[in-house]
Amino acid sequence: MKVVHTIEELRDQLRGQNRTSFVPTMGNLHEGHLALMKLAHQHGDPVVASIFVNRLQFGPNEDFDKYPRTLQDDIDKLQKQNHVYVLFAPNERELYPEPQNYRVSPPHDLGDILEGEFRPGFFVGVTTVVLKLFSCVQPKVAVFGKKDYQQLMIVRNMCRQFALPTEVVPHETVRNGDGLALSSRNRYLSEPERKEAPRLYRLLNEVKDRIRAGEHDSVRVEHDAQRELAAAGWKVDYVSVRRQRDLKAPERAEVEAGEPLVVLAAAKLGPTRLIDNLEI
Ligand code: PAF
Repeated sequence: MKVVHTIEELRDQLRGQNRTSFVPTMGNLHEGHLALMKLAHQHGDPVVASIFVNRLQFGPNEDFDKYPRTLQDDIDKLQKQNHVYVLFAPNERELYPEPQNYRVSPPHDLGDILEGEFRPGFFVGVTTVVLKLFSCVQPKVAVFGKKDYQQLMIVRNMCRQFALPTEVVPHETVRNGDGLALSSRNRYLSEPERKEAPRLYRLLNEVKDRIRAGEHDSVRVEHDAQRELAAAGWKVDYVSVRRQRDLKAPERAEVEAGEPLVVLAAAKLGPTRLIDNLEI
């Protein structure tokens, strides 16, 4: 695996390639990321991974400074797995040459809801950096995890809107045995918080089971789940049942008619904010 830090080196490595598959990451790689690399490897060749902690997608009170940066460890993991041909780890100047004025803004009805409501500017940061990375790598396929469901949807939407020649391929959320979705932020959890954390996924399953069993008042189901999380000491941002196709809240008639839905949740356990979702 080649590790490159500049766009020029990256282009040198990829000259003449037209089946490149790509996995963008912010590093601190875990089994979830490695599963994305594996899927990328099944979809194209060569596989490019990127590691870049993107300041633009962090809010002023978020964890940009303490976000774990573990480049050598990440390189070792990728080398051992042996699916990635080039690791692109640009520095900030390279990706955001001064003066940086350009931003990609997702449409409000997709970018300002759910995560976008609680993390203003987050999706502008994501789409801006993803477009830049796509422009550097020019992938035929890019793999994104379903854990960041709204991100996946917004990136897909961006590719369609800008007619980018990149197919966005989703990967199922990778979980620990107790159901907790893998995330770099899990390492912030204390021991008791780590024991409590799987409650989030259990509750998503309860929401799913109730709706599947014929409960059509999705708002009531959401409220029950929010109450249960709050009672267990979580600070809830949202538990929300949405339509899969556009992340809008479903009408009762749509729930009754079996519209494909997804329940998405974000809540803080101590200082750590966790997100998860489950398709219904
Ligand atoms: O999902 C992530 O890790 C990031 O949002 C991404 C897509 C790498 C953009 O910085």
